[in-house]
Amino acid sequence: MLNLAILISGRGSNMEYILKSIKRKRIPINPAVIISNKPNAKGLKIAEKLGINTVIIESKGFKGSRLDYDKKIIATLKQHGVTPKNGLVCLAGFMKIISPQFIRKYKNRIMNIHPALLPAFTGLDVQKQAVEYGVKFSGCTVHFVDEGVDTGPIIIQSAVRIKNRDTSETLAKRILKEEHKIYPEAVRLFAKKKIRISGRKTIIS
Ligand code: GAR
Repeated sequence: MLNLAILISGRGSNMEYILKSIKRKRIPINPAVIISNKPNAKGLKIAEKLGINTVIIESKGFKGSRLDYDKKIIATLKQHGVTPKNGLVCLAGFMKIISPQFIRKYKNRIMNIHPALLPAFTGLDVQKQAVEYGVKFSGCTVHFVDEGVDTGPIIIQSAVRIKNRDTSETLAKRILKEEHKIYPEAVRLFAKKKIRISGRKTIIS
């Protein structure tokens, strides 16, 4: 079976939905390890409660380059069987840019969830960006990670209508509900080998 690692920095709600889908036997994948770059990430407690291995690799005050940091992540992935041949890495609110070397090593095996309809609104605070821009729809995107920021092949998207009274907080809440549906589904499709990549597109069977 494939081995899954989830990288988090905070609340961990997307991680929780993925882990619960796995527990319910909806996704045939082994949840091997949760890695956090922050020692106080709330998601760590959730993962521990669910009986999943957790590892903290603190990024704050880390002495070394981004690559040095990522080498620590890669070593932890390997220790838990999450290899470039037999692994999937999900970034779930992992607020750290990863190195090109890490991305190349795990080519098309790293996914991310982004709270906007890519390619619109990349980067940070994207729910606020969407409200301020005045778009009528935003949503969320699960995509493979490539060497750009939020640019990799799109796997699933879900659209959310923006209401006149929406603030970035109310919009973020409604988008998050959709995130919790599409991220476990993207992991399921990957685990069932239903995703093929052709150029910058994914083809789902
Ligand atoms: C989610 O909304 C996710 O889309 C976003 O962080 C939140 C993490 O929540 N990620 C990004 O903005 C990445 N650029 P969670 O910790 O409860 O899953």
